[in-house]
Amino acid sequence: MHGILRGMQTRFRSASESYRFARPTDLNAIVGMLGDDEVGAWLWFVPAPPEALRGYFLPLIEQQWQTLADAEPPTTAIFVVEDAEAQYLGQGAVMAVEGSVGGFEIGFQLPKLAWRTGVGTRLAEFLVTWATRLHAPYRLQAGCIEGNAGSRRILEKLGMRLEGTRPDFRLKGDARHTELEFGMRVANLDPLLLRRTEARVPFDSEL
Ligand SMILES: CC(C)(COP(=O)(O)OP(=O)(O)OC[C@H]1O[C@@H](n2cnc3c(N)ncnc32)[C@H](O)[C@@H]1OP(=O)(O)O)[C@@H](O)C(=O)NCCC(=O)NCCS
Repeated sequence: MHGILRGMQTRFRSASESYRFARPTDLNAIVGMLGDDEVGAWLWFVPAPPEALRGYFLPLIEQQWQTLADAEPPTTAIFVVEDAEAQYLGQGAVMAVEGSVGGFEIGFQLPKLAWRTGVGTRLAEFLVTWATRLHAPYRLQAGCIEGNAGSRRILEKLGMRLEGTRPDFRLKGDARHTELEFGMRVANLDPLLLRRTEARVPFDSEL
């Protein structure tokens, strides 16, 4: 199968990992990962019943394939990252921000086997590069719960700044958590990050 679907590249390979648009068949891996309490420790939307997670992701995944079939970049893009043996290493998303014209949000979650390996940093760099290439955004943003040191570090390495905090915004179980809002203007994005990522993950290439 080709990585290009009527003009839209759907698979992006680097030497160590590949990134591709998620399919319904990836839902077992995604939902299974989100069912791990350690993965969900800093995620406001879990724990959640598996059927609720499927009900959230499936329409987004189906919509993105419809959009790709029209040779358009999805405004909500769900990617899967895999190693060279096609082992699931996580998912990442790029989403248009409602009410912020030109604003896009990124998010990412990895199973424990991929933690502290650089996969998170490289996935985030890919998401930013894909969004910048395909959507020419004005702003990029991401949120994380206060205390999520790995996520915060990744966002800071992208060049995002802490733009605001929402004290007690998220409720998980009985505990309220502060949400940190990170963001940046794309004009302030380090061009080296884009060049480095495109050198690692060629765009517009076929499988
Ligand atoms: C957050 C997450 C994506 C990080 O992925 P990762 O593959 O471990 O990230 P990296 O290996 O690229 O590490 C990025 C940086 O964060 C640091 N880091 C990672 N996990 C950390 C932790 N638990 N505590 C402190 N620092 C951490 C790394 O040392 C690295 O710093 P450096 O670049 O200065 O050396 C991953 O832990 C995860 O998916 N967690 C569960 C879901 C989640 O919280 N997603 C984010 C929601 S906002």
